[in-house]
Amino acid sequence: MPCAFITGAAGQDGSYLAELLRGKKYEVIAPGRAECDVTDAAAVGRALRAAAPDEVYHLAAVSHVGQAAQDPAAMLAVNFQGTVNLIHGLREDCPRARLFFASSSEVFGRPDQVPQNEETPFAPVTIYGESKARATLAIRQARADGLFAASGILYNHESPRRGEVFVTRKICRAVAAIKAGRQQDLSLGDTTARRDWGDARDYVLGMWLALQHPQPEDFVFATGELHSVQDVVEIAFATAQLDWRGHVRVDASLMRPAEPARLVGDASKARRLLGWSPRASFRSLIEEMTRAELA
Ligand code: GDD
Repeated sequence: MPCAFITGAAGQDGSYLAELLRGKKYEVIAPGRAECDVTDAAAVGRALRAAAPDEVYHLAAVSHVGQAAQDPAAMLAVNFQGTVNLIHGLREDCPRARLFFASSSEVFGRPDQVPQNEETPFAPVTIYGESKARATLAIRQARADGLFAASGILYNHESPRRGEVFVTRKICRAVAAIKAGRQQDLSLGDTTARRDWGDARDYVLGMWLALQHPQPEDFVFATGELHSVQDVVEIAFATAQLDWRGHVRVDASLMRPAEPARLVGDASKARRLLGWSPRASFRSLIEEMTRAELA
């Protein structure tokens, strides 16, 4: 039985990935933050020695981009230093294990190249993007030093399990609360912001495929389609047979000081080498998320 070790297993991606791997008859070791704090190098080493995994999926991160405003140092510590600790622990204790790192489209910032691929230069415009860019470079160095270390450059990916701070889930939850008469208004930041939104269940399959490939590489996982926050609003309200007008307000305090732009991915390398493609459509995903909240 192969053994997989997942950091950040309590999150949206970790929970779907654990289910996928158990279905493939893996033994899944999913330590919580208390058992394996990635910022604690000694704890990471102990956890890896005890598990002796074949595959490691490093998903633990401060993943809400806006959170840097509260504590930028913590974001860098978890997202960058945590990745360095994991690389070091693997090198010392399980040098034959395969490592997957969940990187982010935010590494590209506001790129001129549209869509982006694995060759697009990193130019982050947020602390979050910087933390992921630095960690992705550390993964590339580890690969050059002989570790099997792959990165998925993941564009936004959603599901009914998405955390409530992210905009798709926030909108779908609010729609259900408005439908039930528990809420009147929904306050949002920039509703013209556009993202490449996919389905988390497709993306965790990509993570697994990246580690089954003979060589460790970087892979973009994306749909190649851009939609706006306003598109999410319109689909979610329509799913609940509500008119969004009269309910949605723009709150300037929710606008981000440095907003990335034009983040849309070209996943043709993953399609070619891994046979990966996103199955779910944007509309059906937002409808599913809204129906889950209404239920
Ligand atoms: N959260 C939030 N709340 N976002 C809002 C709101 C709001 O009220 N109003 C507008 N937005 C806009 C944000 O400014 C952003 O442009 C977009 O909605 C999506 O925001 P989030 O859902 O918070 O996701 P994100 O794009 O910042 O980050 C996600 O995707 C990254 C990959 O591109 C996260 O999953 C990151 O961890 C991930 O790396």
